[in-house]
Amino acid sequence: PNVPLRGASTSEEMKLRKETADALSTMVDAAKKQGVNLKLASGYRSYNTQISIYNNEVKQYGKAVADTQSARPGHSEHQTGLAADMQDINGKCVVADCFKDLPEGKWLAEHAWEYGFIIRYPAGKESITGYRYEPWHIRYIGVELAQEMHKTAVQTLEEFFGVVEKQPY
Ligand code: DAL
Ligand code: ZN
Repeated sequence: PNVPLRGASTSEEMKLRKETADALSTMVDAAKKQGVNLKLASGYRSYNTQISIYNNEVKQYGKAVADTQSARPGHSEHQTGLAADMQDINGKCVVADCFKDLPEGKWLAEHAWEYGFIIRYPAGKESITGYRYEPWHIRYIGVELAQEMHKTAVQTLEEFFGVVEKQPY
């Protein structure tokens, strides 16, 4: 995407599927015009990258906690090129809880849907998504569906499509 990047533009994690990249560029441009400066922290990840991220999480927090905040290899949305972790341009809160209280985090929560994105793992929906609240993680679902979810005030894809299962969270 044509947006500020955390890493080198050639690196895997700074890439996204074309339609996601275009929507993200549009959104980040619009935010900038409103004085909010977003940056891409992590986009596409290969299977191998997810292996190393997941294994590091397990090493650091143990398997039970790791499973609430990192997808197992083969199960991450990042592997589809449709998901992006966003941060503030100054890097005050990078993939951290405090992002939700920054202007960038608040703007994203309020406006992402207008550009076809959702906050994929919302607060209070942990037992439905299976993951802890991630105010930085957005998922591209297209403008039409994002508008519909916004209008009907359904926050998660699991609820929207009626595929809620009890999660071990
Ligand atoms: N942090 C999210 C759940 C992932 O690993 O895809
Ligand atoms: Zn993410």
